[in-house]
Amino acid sequence: MNRLEELRRAGLNSLYPEKVKFTVGRATCGRASGADEVYRVLQDEVARQGLDFEVASTGCLGLCQEEPLVSVRCPGGPRRVYGRVNPELARQLVEEVARGGFPRRRLLGKVYEDEVLITGERVKLTGEAPEGRLLAEIPFYAPQIKVATRNCGWIDPGSIAEYVARGGYRALEQALKMRPGEIIEEVLASGLRGRGGGGFPTGRKWALARQAPGETRYVICNADEGDPGAYMDRSILEGDPHTVLEGMVIGGYAIGAQSGIIYCRAEYPLAVATLREAIRQAEEHGFLGENIFGSGFDFHIEVVEGRGAFVCGEETALIASIEGRMGEPRPRPPYPAEQGLWGKPTCINNVETWANIPPIIARGSRWFAGMGTGTSKGTKVFALVGDIRNNGLVEVPMGTTLRQIVYDVGGGTGIFDLKAVQTGGPSGGCIPAGMIDLPVDYEALTGAGSIMGSGGMVVMDERSCMVDVARFFLAFTQDESCGKCLPCREGTRQMLEILNRICAGEAELPDLELLEELGRAVKDASLCGLGQTAPTPVLSTLKYFREEYEAHIRDRFCPAGVCPELFELVIAEDACRGCGLCVKVCPQGAITGEKERPHHLDRKKCVRCRACLGVCRRKAIKAVPRKELSDDADA
Ligand SMILES: Cc1cc2nc3c(=O)[nH]c(=O)nc-3n(C[C@H](O)[C@H](O)[C@H](O)COP(=O)(O)O)c2cc1C
Ligand code: SF4
Ligand code: SF4
Repeated sequence: MNRLEELRRAGLNSLYPEKVKFTVGRATCGRASGADEVYRVLQDEVARQGLDFEVASTGCLGLCQEEPLVSVRCPGGPRRVYGRVNPELARQLVEEVARGGFPRRRLLGKVYEDEVLITGERVKLTGEAPEGRLLAEIPFYAPQIKVATRNCGWIDPGSIAEYVARGGYRALEQALKMRPGEIIEEVLASGLRGRGGGGFPTGRKWALARQAPGETRYVICNADEGDPGAYMDRSILEGDPHTVLEGMVIGGYAIGAQSGIIYCRAEYPLAVATLREAIRQAEEHGFLGENIFGSGFDFHIEVVEGRGAFVCGEETALIASIEGRMGEPRPRPPYPAEQGLWGKPTCINNVETWANIPPIIARGSRWFAGMGTGTSKGTKVFALVGDIRNNGLVEVPMGTTLRQIVYDVGGGTGIFDLKAVQTGGPSGGCIPAGMIDLPVDYEALTGAGSIMGSGGMVVMDERSCMVDVARFFLAFTQDESCGKCLPCREGTRQMLEILNRICAGEAELPDLELLEELGRAVKDASLCGLGQTAPTPVLSTLKYFREEYEAHIRDRFCPAGVCPELFELVIAEDACRGCGLCVKVCPQGAITGEKERPHHLDRKKCVRCRACLGVCRRKAIKAVPRKELSDDADA
């Protein structure tokens, strides 16, 4: 029996043991919601009752809103997935399962068969006919197709055997029997484009690196992920580290490299530890190191920790940082594929890009290119956050509309109407609710004045002030500018100063022209992508929400009720039903009233924290211009 088959069998035994198995999602998002305590309670309870049950860990299943997530399976039965599991439910789970039953509360859905994406096979977990709600059919999961995140939340990231049981390292075995040029052709034909933000065709980058003269070449995985709110790469690294390693070895073989580096931000300690353990295991089993699969090909990978500067995610700054120099970008060309790390040809790709490589090799380029749109193939992982019911990590085919992502997957915005969707992180723009049927692909998003970026997607309802949103992102890029070039350093500073004045009600209308002019200048004259894209949040909001900027200036009013100097809150008597919810959340005791009678907000006590705004289902609490109220208006 070969090594892969041996591991596969061990992995199947571990994935589908002949005993009850609890699996807890213990990626960073799960841990932040208390997954470690739930894990401990499950272990303690199993031990206390002397049960022969297994308690295992896995990564993020995507539905972060429902963390901690726990799945439980009895031999021969379906897997049941529970959400928002607290220590009390964990105890109940053990108790009821020990008695042969299952709690009904907080059951999200059941899984009757597992899909092994790499082979296209389906593993039946039970002979029972499906009944009740299936996990794959709940609205959050139904439109999703998981390729890069196929194993996250299903395998123990610390178990190479479980990875192999889900088809892991088969693609590598297959690739090492191909000629390097054939692999590059396959990646090119798949249409895969870089998931780190630029969207450059991966196969073309590989071909350039392979053609570049020289004996020594490098492969780099960019795991710097500095966008605020984005955690796609972290989830992949924490949930399925081997897919990244496998992709990198395939890439290394294809371009003729001997070693690879994963540049991971130090703020991701769990990802770093998980990667290091995965590298150790892959070396132990001969999938990394010398003479991989007996092919004569040697390849080593090491992890280098970044120190948290956003600009170090830019490829030339990242290379400088690995070399121990100041993390500053340099002009391109030459591109890293021609002259990269230590001056040698270097192929640098994003975590998600690497995670797509094994499925492309195993299932073929045609399979991959069968998903997506004309110029954007495959799927894309998004961190869906903001004013949305289901926050989480989602993977959908390219071309899925914003509407499907926000309403079907995300469950909509709740009480308040959608106002905009911000894509692409601090380099991206805001797409207004009126363009909700936009298909999400590289060209459509760029055409709408935003970008795909690496996958941040912030949903904003009508309570968001678009001037304040633009200011938030610009303040981030301004702070993160390395300062090397004047347009970025000074231009963003001046833009931020204007935005601050607008939000404080101290700007004049010509400031808007100046803001636009500066934005264009910074975009055109900056050296690297940070400066070139920093004005995008400002320019896109000026394009779609100009009247909101004008209201801040002309009327000294923030219509969304965000900029504290530019609004007061009042309760509209005709809309208020006197439910009292706002009274409970107001930290100042500023709201009073009799039950079922219109309530009253004392503006002298109100500190405009907006807590009440979020709870009023009648939308009876309104922002009004300060000047509309006379001094004794609340008397
Ligand atoms: C300011 C800035 C920050 C970036 N941060 C990241 C990052 O965190 N992760 C990433 O993969 N790419 C990042 N990029 C893009 C990289 O420069 C590079 O294009 C990417 O790693 C290439 O991989 P891909 O072709 O697989 O997307 C950043 C670019 C800029 C300008
Ligand atoms: S554009 Fe900004 S971040 Fe990029 S090199 Fe210039 S100063 Fe540094
Ligand atoms: S929450 Fe709304 S409806 Fe209820 S009392 Fe307050 S203002 Fe009135």
